[in-house]
Amino acid sequence: MAGRDVKLSLLTYGLHYGGGVFEGLRAYDTPWGRSVFRLADHMRRFQESARFLQLNLDYEHGELCEAVKAVVQANGAHADYIRPLAFFGHTSSLGLDLKGVPAHVAIITVHMGSYIGDRQASEGMDVIISSWEKPSNRATSLTAKICGNYVNSMLAKHEATMAGADEAIMLNNNGTVAEGTGENIFIVRQGRLITPDLASCVLEGVTRDTVLQLARSAGYQTEERPITRGELMVADEVFMTGTAAEIVPVRTINGVPVEDGRPGPLTIQLQRLYHDAARGEDERFIDWLCLVESDQLELIRV
Ligand SMILES: Cc1ncc(COP(=O)(O)O)c(C=O)c1O
Repeated sequence: MAGRDVKLSLLTYGLHYGGGVFEGLRAYDTPWGRSVFRLADHMRRFQESARFLQLNLDYEHGELCEAVKAVVQANGAHADYIRPLAFFGHTSSLGLDLKGVPAHVAIITVHMGSYIGDRQASEGMDVIISSWEKPSNRATSLTAKICGNYVNSMLAKHEATMAGADEAIMLNNNGTVAEGTGENIFIVRQGRLITPDLASCVLEGVTRDTVLQLARSAGYQTEERPITRGELMVADEVFMTGTAAEIVPVRTINGVPVEDGRPGPLTIQLQRLYHDAARGEDERFIDWLCLVESDQLELIRV
C-alpha cells in the first residue's frame, strides 16, 4: 500500500506522545540476490524496544523477518532502506495511560541512497558538538529505539544544519561523548579503536557491533568505555556509524580538523570491510546476510 493511502486517527497515541518504536535496515545486492543486512539482529532489537514500551507486537521474530523480506521483494532494487514501525493507536480519551490502547505494526521502505552524502562518505563530514545534551539512561531507555527519544536528535540535527555542518555529536549528562543524532561514534587513538560504552547513553547500534567485530577480525584492539571531549578533540581518527549512514569519517569538529582533516587509514579499512561484508563479498561474514528470495544460505557456502 502506498504511504499516502494509509488513514490514521488524529487521536493516535503515538502521534501525540511519541509512543512507538522503530528500526532501520538496509538492503544490498549480493552475488546471490538481494539481502537485508543483519535482519535477525535488527528485528530482535525491534522486539526488545517494543517489550520495553510494553507495546504488544502480536508477531513472532520469524514472522517479522519474513514480513521485511516480503516488503523488500515487493518493492524491488530501488528500495534500499526499510523502516519497521510499531505504535500505540487510537485513544479516545487522549490520556497518557497505555492500558487498552491498541498497537499497530507497519513496514515502510524508501529509496535513501547515501544518508549523509557521497562527498562526506569519501572526504569526511563536518560536525558540531551540540548544545543539546543526550537524555540520560535514567530519563528513558536509550537501548530501545523509541520514537519519542528522537525529539532530542531532531533538535541536535537542526542545530547542525543551521550551523552549516553535516551532523551533531551529543554529550551525555556526565559530559562525556554519547553519539550522533542517528549514529554511534568511534575514535582511534594510538592504534586502538574506542567507542562509548552503553552506560554513556548510546543506542546499542547494530553497525557499532559490526564495526567492533570487523576491527577485531583485522587484528585491532577495541575498547568500549567513556570518551571525554578532550580525547575526542585530539583523536587520530573519528568516524560515525549507523545503518543509514554506514561508516562516515569526521573531518572537522566545531571547525577544528581531526588530525590532518582527511579520513584516516583505519576508517578507510573499516569502510571497505563493511562494504564487502554487507554485499556478500567477504565470505567470513555471510551469516550477516539474509537473502530475500531464499533461505538457502547453505547454497552460498558450497
Ligand atoms: C541515536 C542512534 N544512534 C545510533 C544509531 C546506529 O544504530 P544502527 O547501527 O543499529 O543503525 C542510530 C540508528 O538507528 C540511532 O538512531
